[in-house]
This record gives sequence, structure tokens and C-alpha cells, in this order.
Amino acid sequence: MSVTVKNLTKIYGAQKAVDNISFEAPKGQVLGFLGPNGAGKSTTMKVITCYIPQSKGTVKVCGHDVSEESQAVREKIGYLPEQNPLYKDMYVKEYLEFIANVHKVPKKQARIREMIGQTGLEREQHKKIGALSKGYRQRVGLAQALLHDPEVLILDEPTSGLDPNQLVEIRALIKELGREKTVIFSTHIMQEVQAICDRVIIINKGKIVADDPIDKLQDRVTATVTVKAEFLEKVEEKLLLQIPGVMDVVNRNGNAYLLSTNGKLDIRPEIFKMAKQNNFTLVELFKEKSSVEDVFQQLTRGK
Ligand SMILES: Nc1ncnc2c1ncn2[C@@H]1O[C@H](COP(=O)(O)OP(=O)(O)OP(=O)(O)O)[C@@H](O)[C@H]1O
Ligand SMILES: [Mg+2]
Repeated sequence: MSVTVKNLTKIYGAQKAVDNISFEAPKGQVLGFLGPNGAGKSTTMKVITCYIPQSKGTVKVCGHDVSEESQAVREKIGYLPEQNPLYKDMYVKEYLEFIANVHKVPKKQARIREMIGQTGLEREQHKKIGALSKGYRQRVGLAQALLHDPEVLILDEPTSGLDPNQLVEIRALIKELGREKTVIFSTHIMQEVQAICDRVIIINKGKIVADDPIDKLQDRVTATVTVKAEFLEKVEEKLLLQIPGVMDVVNRNGNAYLLSTNGKLDIRPEIFKMAKQNNFTLVELFKEKSSVEDVFQQLTRGK
């Protein structure tokens, strides 16, 4: 097991930021850390990476205890912190050289070139870090975390501040890295979890409220999914209620209807069939929410 967290608690003053959590992350898995603001995601990551000590519990990285063998743990881990602290007066290449020296990276120049390529920094590599846009600084942070080819990557909101094109590239990179390494990353973006995670841990108020493979997550709660269907013609609500899986129908405006389902069945093909059978013209069919989003809200809202 690459990362083992057992009964971890972190107390700040009177507040339990992390409350007795346990989980394991094996090699070759991308683990998504999802949770509302203040849930304890960054705090957990800081303990795993030896940035802060825990109050109780044990954390091991590749068999090394974070409290007793912090040097060995740091060698195994690449960490992109939430605030991504960088030396703004340093040039990109100079900074990466500095980090490579800290880690005593062999064949330094070749490795730096490789990382610059992998994180798409070619055009920015001769600039000062302070002159880079937010997304490119994020890439420097990622390059820094990857430089010593660590077995475990801890990435705290790695895609925040990236534009849509960069998002796609960096997500692909994280997914790729997850094949050989253990990746734990935090995010607020549901689609991101669905796109790149093998497994997701939802944390709320310092406690784990779900720890599931991504495809099993939606079975945990009955998620309500709403489908919007708009027709050219007026459709009797009872016709819509007869569609298997439909629990409720609300007429929104004109000939648009909101159909609620329990999320287990995709009702869109049935709506299409019904329209065809009755000669209705379907002009819009839209699933309002993804199920991971529903699960997240149900597990973390108002608790
Ligand atoms: N150094 C600190 N001193 C006191 N309280 C802290 C400290 N760091 C974090 N906290 C508190 O611990 C709780 C968990 O914070 P944490 O940063 O781990 O949340 P998070 O899940 O990463 O949230 P976000 O999604 O906003 O990044 C919060 O209530 C926060 O205010
Ligand atoms: Mg955080």
C-alpha cells in the first residue's frame, strides 16, 4: 500500500479539522478528494506530506511513518500545495534546477527538459515565475512536484486557475501519471472526478462520508436526477408520468416539463420513444444534473 492513513485526527485549537479518518491508497490509482470548503482536505494532505504534524493517528507513505521518517517520506512524495508557493524572482528553469538539486535528481538537465515538455512550459521556460499567468504557475508547481519522479503525488487542487484547454491537458497528464504512481488530488469540480478518478473519497467536516470506486458512488444514495423535456406541442402530464422511472412532472413554462427520476434509470430514450409514438416534436432533452454532483450534495449538505 502506498499511502496508509489510520485514525488520523488533526486539531487546531478547539477545532477538529480532521476527525478520525482512515483510508488506504494503492499504487496505480487516482484517488479524488472531494469536499466542501473547510472539510479538511488540505489539512489531511499536509499531514501526509510532513508539512504539519498530526494530533492523533498514524500515516505511512510507502511503509515510512510520517512522524518518524519524514526524510524518507519526502523522497517518495511529490506535493503541489494549495497556495503553490513559488519563488517569484526566480526564472522557471532556474527554479526547477534548484528543486532538482534539493532532490539530487540524476541527469538533471535532461529531466528538467522532460518535465518542461510534459507540463507544456516550453514557451514560458525562460521567463521569471512572477511574470507567468496563474495557469502557467500551476504548471511550474506540477513540474516541481514531478521532478524527482516520486512514487506518490499529492496534488491540492491542481487544476484551479487553468483555462479549458489547459484543463484537458493537465487532466490527461494526471490520469497518465496515475497508471504508475499513486495520485491523491483534491478538487471541487465534479466532472473532473468523473473524468480522471478511479476512486473518490468525500470528506465533510473532517469525516469521511463516502469512499467508493467512481462507478459505485451513485448507488450510495438515491440521487434525484431531473430531465428537462420541451415539445412543440402541449403534452398531457399524465402521459409523461406513464414513462417508466418518472416520479414527478412539473410544467415549467410553455411546453417545457421537468421530470424527476431516482437516477437509476436514464429516462431520455423513453421520452424520445413516447414523443415518436404520439407524433410530438421534441425540441429539447436535457439532464439537469450529473449523479456525482447529486451524491456530493446529499452527503455534505446541511450536515
Ligand atoms: N493553521 C490553521 N489554524 C487554524 N485552523 C486551521 C488552520 N488550517 C486549517 N484550519 C481549519 O481547518 C479546517 C479544514 O481546513 P482545510 O484547509 O483542510 O479545508 P479544505 O477541505 O482544504 O477546504 P478548501 O476546499 O476550502 O480548500 C477549516 O475549518 C480551517 O479553517
Ligand atoms: Mg484546501
